[in-house]
Amino acid sequence: MRDMYMAHSELAAVVLAAGQGTRMKSALHKVLHPVGGKALVRHLLDTVATLEPTRTVMVIGDNADQLKAAITGVEFAVQDKQLGTGHAVRCAMPALEGFGGNILVLYGDVPFVTAGAMQSMLDTMQATADCGLVVLGFRTDDPAAYGRLIVGTDGALERIVEYKDASAKERAVNFCNSGMMLISGAHAAGWLDALTCDNAAGEYYLTDLVAIARASGAHVGHVETAETDLIGVNSRAELAAADAAFQTRARAGAMAAGVTLVAPDTVFFSHDTALAADVTVEPNVVFGPGVRVDAGVTIKAFSHIEGATVRKGASVGPFARLRPAADIGEGAKIGNFVEIKKSKLAAGVKVSHLSYIGDATIGADANIGAGTITCNYDGFLKYNTHIGAGAFIGSNSALVAPVTIGDGAIVGAGSVMTKDVPGDALAVSRARQRDIKGYATRFRAEKQIEKAEKQATRTKKES
Ligand code: UD1
Ligand code: MG
Repeated sequence: MRDMYMAHSELAAVVLAAGQGTRMKSALHKVLHPVGGKALVRHLLDTVATLEPTRTVMVIGDNADQLKAAITGVEFAVQDKQLGTGHAVRCAMPALEGFGGNILVLYGDVPFVTAGAMQSMLDTMQATADCGLVVLGFRTDDPAAYGRLIVGTDGALERIVEYKDASAKERAVNFCNSGMMLISGAHAAGWLDALTCDNAAGEYYLTDLVAIARASGAHVGHVETAETDLIGVNSRAELAAADAAFQTRARAGAMAAGVTLVAPDTVFFSHDTALAADVTVEPNVVFGPGVRVDAGVTIKAFSHIEGATVRKGASVGPFARLRPAADIGEGAKIGNFVEIKKSKLAAGVKVSHLSYIGDATIGADANIGAGTITCNYDGFLKYNTHIGAGAFIGSNSALVAPVTIGDGAIVGAGSVMTKDVPGDALAVSRARQRDIKGYATRFRAEKQIEKAEKQATRTKKES
């Protein structure tokens, strides 16, 4: 039954992103600024993709090449001059030639509209006879310069009046236009052609479609959504606010999924951070993109983790840095001031203090002493280090790659390894220790005399 009811016509998404975004003061296009490690507009595109639109067209103008290079999976339509939102949608129409389905208009810089709000718009269109248009509105205590939704006594939307064109009475309305709307495919082209720029801004307002649709006898529906889902990003301050909102959702999502966040407000997520149930995250941890953490792991305070996998029961930090392609095995322990890059550590490996491990593989239960460095770079190329299972690397050792330390081998503290070490061998590469008996006593006695003589000469000069 629901399937029949839901059998709506095909959908096209039109994402407006031709605006200049001058308030960002950035060489990067406004909609490409990241939130949670993902471009603003990508958040929106990923949400709209859940509705499975047949076509997605992005209307671009400023910095068009940047957008074309950065965004995949959409068609582009160019709006050379920004003559208004209505004109922008018109510019998308040639790309939709031959497409008869409904058109969902979205703004590239309003990235967090929910799939639920979009679905309500589709449902409203579907459920209402002769519905030609559905507008997404919101109520706010601070309607500022938003367009106002003017609803008739019958509860139906009559028109949208832009702030610049609104009377004092209309400006007092707090029901506002989000900018998003769903336009019936059957009417879109004709109604868009009927738009004029006869208004205070001299622009083709998309919002005039409401009055045009009504005049042609179509019903216009409206759906309300929460103001908080309509955060727009026009400035760095708004970008920060968008990120804060994203973080709030990500933290709540993680906790709902069984993750302990000791101090949620100090933990920062990326769009794809995957933390299993019973992961504990201590305060002040940053997750860059591409992180997967399995059950029972503790990420201790002040760790920075990106592109890394941390397997069951491992412990990371405090003050650890895991960089891309770090793979930390089950029950492994990464301690303070340890940096790991592109390295696979098997189960039970311990790297507890002050080390750099890069381009390495480390076998199960190996123990890497404090201050061990894999010297993976000669200024030109990178080389690999292999440390066998059960090996013990003494503190303050330098492993000059390419080099292999065999299974069960021991490297003496303070060694520099430039050659492979056989399994179960002891390798030491440092000057042999020499003890000179009584030297320290003689040394102190001589120095005390020397110091006393110097002081005596100084006192003589001063008197
Ligand atoms: C628009 C709405 C207003 C609504 C507000 C919500 C109109 C006429 N007004 O106003 O009712 O309350 O959004 O934020 O639609 N764009 C283009 N090409 C253009 C103009 C705009 O691509 O020629 C894009 C912008 O990049 C932006 C979006 O459309 O993503 C909205 O444009 P903006 O100038 O911010 O519209 P507002 O004047 O704020
Ligand atoms: Mg705006």
